[in-house]
Parts: sequence; C-alpha cells; structure tokens
Amino acid sequence: MKQIHLGVFEVAGPQVGGTLSWPHPLNRSLDYRDLNHWIHIAQVLDRAGFDFLFFADGYGYPTVGGDLPDVAATGGINFPSLDPALYIPTLAHLTERLGFVVTSSTGLDHPVQTARRFATLDHLTNGRVGWNIVTGASQDAVAKLFGHEEMTLHDARYDQADEYLDLAMNLWEGSWEEGALVQDRENVIFADPDRLHRVEFEGEHFRSSGYFTVDPSPQRTPVLFQAGTSARGRAYAARNAECVFVQGTTIEQTKFNVADIRAKAAELGRDPQAIKILVGLTVTVAATHDEAVTLRAQFDDLQSDEVVAVLYAGNTGIDLLSLDPDRTLAQIEEDGGAFGQMGQSNIDRFLGKDGRPAPTVREILDQLRGRGTRGFQVVGSPTEVADELERMIDETDLDGFLIEPIFDPTDLEAFAELVVPELRRRGRMSDAPATGTLREQVTGAGPHLASDHPGARFRDALAIARDERATDAS
Ligand SMILES: Cc1cc2nc3c(=O)[nH]c(=O)nc-3n(C[C@H](O)[C@H](O)[C@H](O)COP(=O)(O)O)c2cc1C
Repeated sequence: MKQIHLGVFEVAGPQVGGTLSWPHPLNRSLDYRDLNHWIHIAQVLDRAGFDFLFFADGYGYPTVGGDLPDVAATGGINFPSLDPALYIPTLAHLTERLGFVVTSSTGLDHPVQTARRFATLDHLTNGRVGWNIVTGASQDAVAKLFGHEEMTLHDARYDQADEYLDLAMNLWEGSWEEGALVQDRENVIFADPDRLHRVEFEGEHFRSSGYFTVDPSPQRTPVLFQAGTSARGRAYAARNAECVFVQGTTIEQTKFNVADIRAKAAELGRDPQAIKILVGLTVTVAATHDEAVTLRAQFDDLQSDEVVAVLYAGNTGIDLLSLDPDRTLAQIEEDGGAFGQMGQSNIDRFLGKDGRPAPTVREILDQLRGRGTRGFQVVGSPTEVADELERMIDETDLDGFLIEPIFDPTDLEAFAELVVPELRRRGRMSDAPATGTLREQVTGAGPHLASDHPGARFRDALAIARDERATDAS
C-alpha cells in the first residue's frame, strides 16, 4: 500500500492560493510578519508527522494591463509577500525533524548566489532544506520591477533553468571533495587544498570560474522540488526534480501528468518511482460532515469573480473579465487572442484537452471561484476525507499532497488532529515519522543526490580526480 507524503503550502503573505480568506475570524494569516505564527505552525506539523513546510515565493504580483489591480490591493491577493527564506533558520531551530522547502526562481539571481543561500540554509537546518525550482510567476511584473525591457519567453526560461541548476549542482557537488574539510587544530589545517577544485562552467546563459565558498552541507544539494506543469515544465521535472508539485484539479489530468513525468524520467535513465509527485489539496474537515460543509460555505461566501480574474491574470496574462463570457479559451485563441508567454498549465487545463468539452469563460470563472491556484478540494468528516485521499493516491499514482489551508492555522490543526490519525490507522502514514535529512525522509534513500540524477556527474568527476591522485602517489 502506498504511503502518503504530506507537505503544507504557505506564502509569507496574507493568504495562500489566490483566494480571499484573511477577513474571516478563524483566520490568523494576517500574522504573517510574526515569527510566533510560523513557529506555531511548524511545531504543529513537526509533531503531527508532516514531511515539510513549503513556501511559494516570487518577486511579482498580479497585474491587469500592466498594473496592480485595485482588487489585488484591497483583497491582499498574492500581494504583498515577505522573503520566506529568512524564516527558515528560526523554524528549524525550534522543530525536531520537519523539512522546509523554499521557492526560488531561476530568472533573476545568479546561480552562485542561490547555491550559496541554499547551502547555508542546509547547514543551519542540519540538512532539512529543499529548493522549489520555478521559472517564475508574474513574469511581466517581475521584468518591469527589475528594469528589464521584456520577459524571457516561456520555454526559453526552462532552457535557462536547466543550465542554472547545472551550475548550482556543479558548485554543491563538484568543488569540495569528500574529506576536503579537515579542521585540524594541531596541524593548523582548515581545508586540504588538494581536495578543493575549481568549477569551470561555460554555458549559454551563465559562466563561472572559481571555488564554491560554502563547505559541504549535510545534503550538499538541497532536495530538488519543481513546480510548473506545462509540457516543458514536466520535461524539466523529469530530468531534474526529486519531488514535483503538480498543478491538478481532476483525476484524469493528474493521472496523465504523473504518468508523463515518470515515463520521461525513465527515458532519461532515472528511477521513475523514486520521484515523489504531490498535488495541492484544500481540506475542510470537522467532526461531522455537516460542520465541515458549513465551514466551507463561510469561505465560499468571501469569494468573487473579481478575485478569480485577478489571480488568473497574474498567472496566465489573461484577463477573463475582458473576454466574451460565452466563448471558450480555445475559440478565443483561434480568433487570434493574444495568449501570453506566462504560465501555461492554467491555460491548458481549460482547452478541453482532457476529453471533456472546453468550458466557456463564464464557466471558468465559476469553476475557479474559491479555487484560485489551489488543487483538489475535499470537504467532510475525517473518514470521508481519508477515503477521498486514498482514492486519489490509488487512482493517480501520486505520492502525496501539499495541504493548502483556507483558514490558517485552524485548518492545519484540524488536519493534524482529525485526518493524520485516520491515515495512520489505515497504514498510509507510519506511526513513527521519519527523521534525518529531508532527502532521507522524503525519498527513503541516503542524504545525497541519487546516482542516477544528472547532478551526480559532478560528484563522479571529483571521485575520478581523487583516484588519479591516489595513483600518482603510489
Ligand atoms: C503548482 C504550481 C506552483 C507554482 N508555484 C510557484 C511559486 O511559488 N512561485 C513562482 O514564481 N511561480 C510558481 N509557479 C509558476 C511557474 O514558475 C510559472 O508559471 C512558469 O511559467 C512555469 O509554469 P508552467 O510550466 O506551468 O507554465 C507555480 C506553478 C505551478 C503549476
């Protein structure tokens, strides 16, 4: 029976998932600037046996016609957001085993900066950190904010991201040989110069020549997550990701995406089942079915078309409220509608490619209300929720879920109290949560990158250098 992995999806802002929930009295997410709020959440998850706390992040915000729409400001819809990486050392210090995954895009900082930041986090968390690699949402706003003339196009961003990660992995895996860190007080040797190697990287987008300035952390390479479910995004995941956060709202589409990522990974010589694939999941659970339905209705009452449209525009570049409500996106595209070069998975899902008729713009607005960028939605008693989670795992070959709270942290407390024990009873979660580095906890393998991962070649190059030195010495 497949075990269920659990993470929690958060942003360092007023609410998650591009929906409106902070005005509700049960919601304390306005405390996002207060470390105590995050410490409480991290400790709840740590004790309950969740695998990790995940922070989405980006420099952008939703735009319509190039500007921040009023409803994004009044509703606090994906605006504003703090830098979540800065929370992590405190949260790790005050938890025992929980992992922490931070999103960072491949579009702006140089890979050397990102490699150094994550290696430092890996040290400070004692190997409990993951990097969610994204090419970046809200690319138009980000390009303008950073003074760039225009955004890089969608697939080109992924090509650049392949190279970006290669350089980062080269730094983590290919600069410090095992044993290079000596720290011998008596003989005054901090590091062994023979075991330190220059990284020489010549790419199309990035170049680097020199030594990595952070000594090897427990995992060396943080656990590599990826989010972005377009065809090019799935190819990127198949090559690079150890954990994938897929966009998914229907069983059929999710099953297809999971199978596609695993098949592409196998073609590249990777173990397809070793890649852990998770989907977003909003759960409203209460002691009884009726209580859960009432709670969910209170959330639904806060949502509106304007909130949906702002979020969707920020994600795809398409303003649904400016389109003919009776036409489908496929028809509008055929008419020559300008579909942007921003995120594609939230366009693809409405083009009728999954065998169902494509919805009209009006139907898309209705389908997205209360959903935003959220994945699956489940409402019910603990046994109803557990039934549904088991069904989803078994029908899609997913490995788990990223819980996307609507009322924060109440939803997480309820899930930990009511659903986790039920999943344990059913043998879907172990009674004793895994410990060790995040990679050991999530993949069940060792603390370092698997040997079939493309990053392992940088480690192999150091092993060859070590063997050559040994031959020369003998
Ligand atoms: C499930 C999911 C989660 C995402 N999380 C983030 C995020 O936290 N920050 C970000 O900048 N972009 C995020 N993205 C967006 C992608 O970086 C961006 O849209 C990019 O164009 C790739 O998405 P695509 O492959 O789905 O087109 C996410 C995309 C998906 C599908």
